[in-house]
Parts: sequence; structure tokens; C-alpha cells
Amino acid sequence: MSEFSDELIGRSGYLSEGFADVYDRYRPSPPAEVLDVLILAAGVEQPTLVVDLGCGTGLATRALADRADEVVGVEPNPRMIERARTATEKSNVSFIEAYARETGLPDGGADLVTCWQSFHWMEPQPVLAEAVRLLRSGGVFAACDYDVPPFVEPGVDAAFEALGGARREARQRLALPAGATSWPKDRHLDEIRTSGRFRYARELVAHGWWDTDAERLIGLARSIGGPRELFEQAPEVGELFDRAAETAREVLGDRTWPLLLGYRLRVGIK
Ligand SMILES: C[S@@+](CC[C@H](N)C(=O)[O-])C[C@H]1O[C@@H](n2cnc3c(N)ncnc32)[C@H](O)[C@@H]1O
Repeated sequence: MSEFSDELIGRSGYLSEGFADVYDRYRPSPPAEVLDVLILAAGVEQPTLVVDLGCGTGLATRALADRADEVVGVEPNPRMIERARTATEKSNVSFIEAYARETGLPDGGADLVTCWQSFHWMEPQPVLAEAVRLLRSGGVFAACDYDVPPFVEPGVDAAFEALGGARREARQRLALPAGATSWPKDRHLDEIRTSGRFRYARELVAHGWWDTDAERLIGLARSIGGPRELFEQAPEVGELFDRAAETAREVLGDRTWPLLLGYRLRVGIK
């Protein structure tokens, strides 16, 4: 399993020089409203311990640290975790370089175990078993994903949709599957339910606003990553990237723009 995770990570482009900086700069961190929903589901005012699986550069880990006594981020990619470590000096945050299925953390101490944009990278059942081991009774596992591309403006959205479609098509043609090929996000709730490990499971939706502009949108598209082969053997992906960037610059000019981030939270309560 860890070999397959290594393969996925290697093929993701997330290990490339400078990628973690782009990721941390241009990806959104969870809005307060979304954190409120999870804390409400966990039935506490302030979680004692949150474990953030597949924490990447720690965008959600840092946001959670403002709301919880202690947060532990778990991430196997050394470049992402290095960026996470340098991005915070908060004393209630720590990071472990590990796979989500085997964190080495003690049993039963967590109010919340989260996967932000990361559950589709992981073989679900062993990770759910680990999440349940970490949670106290009544604690919450949540796979949290925002819709990509987010809603900006029809012309801009269409250009980014076209880019996403070309990337998916090229990955298929070149046999370079991403994690979501094996474990699509729309199966997350079924995985939680069929694990039989949670007394209650459902999907919640929430949203937040994020100020963006043309350069941030282009950075967000860049932060999706992609293996070198994709860009060498599928030049249409690069062309559609340039077209999307051009559209964003034309439509948004130098304006700041309110961007609606829609989140789907697939939640299981232990
Ligand atoms: C799209 S990033 C999400 C990062 C962060 N949670 C966020 O919201 O910005 C997915 C992360 O999951 C990590 N990952 C991949 N396979 C994993 C596994 N088996 N266990 C834990 N993390 C994993 C990747 O290295 C990557 O950093």
C-alpha cells in the first residue's frame, strides 16, 4: 500500500522543486463556517485533539490550530511536510511524516480526524480503520473536499473546466491515473458507510468565500500539479492552461473577485 502511495505521490508532481511553495500560496485554507460544521458534529466547543491526515503543507492544520487545543498533521511527502513545518510556529501544532493508515498515534484521543482534499489519495478502508482507532467514542471522521474549479464567472469557469477535462483525458490516454481514479470523491460516503465502523454517516455541504484575483486563480490551477510526462506528451494541456490564464486576466483584469468555495463534507460519527 505504501508503495502504491509512493507511486501516486511520485507521479503527482507534488515532489517537484518549488511545488510545495506554489501549493501553500495558492490553495485555500478552510473557511471558518466549514470548521464550525465539523466542531458542531463532534459535539464540543473546542476539540482537544484533531488529527489531519494528508495534511500537505498544513493549510487546514494551521486553521484547525486556531480552534483546537492540539493538532497533529500527518503527511508522507517530505517536501510538503517540510513546508508545513516552516509555515507555523504555533506551539499546539506538530507534524508526523507517515502514511494515514499507520500514524503511530495513541488510541481514542481525537475528537476529529480530517482529510482535506486528501482522502481520494488513500486506500480508504485501512485509513478508516486507523481513523476509528484514533477517535474517541462520538468523535468525527470527515473527508472534506471543495469543488474544483470553484465558481468565479461563466467564461472563466468554462476555461478552467476545459483545462481540467484535457488533464483528465491526457492522464487516461497516457495511463497516468491520479488517486481519484481509484478512489473517487463521490464514493467517500459509501466507503464510510460500508466500513461498518461508524454509528452515523452523512454528507454535509457548507461554503465559504475567498477573495481571489486573476493571478491567484492561475496559481490555483498550477497547484493542481501533474507528472512531467503529462506536460511533455500532452501539449494541449499546456495550451489550455495558457488559454485559461489569458481568460482569467481578460475577465478579471486587476480586480479582486469574491470566489465561492463549495465544500462537501463526508462525515462519519464513531
Ligand atoms: C491535495 S493534497 C491536500 C493537502 C492538504 N490537506 C490541503 O488541504 O491543502 C493531498 C495530500 O495527501 C498526501 N497523501 C497521499 N497519500 C497519502 C497517504 N497514503 N497518507 C497520507 N497522506 C497522503 C499527499 O502527499 C498530499 O500532500
